[in-house]
Amino acid sequence: ALERTFSIIKPDATRRNLTGQIIAKLEDGGLRVVAQKRIRLSEDQAKSFYAVHKERPFYSDLVSFMTSGPVVVQVLEGENAISRNREIMGATNPSEAAPGTIRAEFAENIEANSVHGSDGPDTAAEEIKFFFTDDEIVG
Ligand code: CMP
Repeated sequence: ALERTFSIIKPDATRRNLTGQIIAKLEDGGLRVVAQKRIRLSEDQAKSFYAVHKERPFYSDLVSFMTSGPVVVQVLEGENAISRNREIMGATNPSEAAPGTIRAEFAENIEANSVHGSDGPDTAAEEIKFFFTDDEIVG
C-alpha cells in the first residue's frame, strides 16, 4: 500500500555534507520526499522525540548528539514506505548493516548512524505530526 514514513538525516551526516547522497539513496529506492526541512533540534524536542528510550543507558548521549548540529527532517512516501525506508537505511548498528545501505556506507557508529526512520505505522504517524503540519506535506 502507499504509505508515508518519517525520516531524519542526523548531525553526523549533515556535518559531513552527505544530505544529497542520502536523499539519492532514498529516491533510488523508490521513495519520494513529500516534506522536508533543515532544523536544529532543541534539547526539549530531542528528549521528547526519543522519550521511548528515556530509560536506556544511551539516552542522554543520544539527546546530546541529536542536538549537536543541524538535522534534516522529512516525510517519505511510497509503496510500503515504512519497511522500504528501513531496508534502505540498513541495521541500526552499521557493523551489522547490509552492503549498499545508508548506514553501511555512511554511519560512523551505532549512535552516529546517519539516519532515523519510523519503525511502524503508529510511530510514523506520530513522528510526522511531531514535526509537520498537514499543509507542509505536499504529495
Ligand atoms: P534511531 O533509529 O534514531 O533510534 C534510537 C537511536 O539511539 C538509534 O537510532 C541510535 O542513533 C541511538 N543509539 C545509541 N546507542 C544505541 C544502542 N545501543 N541501541 C540502539 N540505538 C542506539
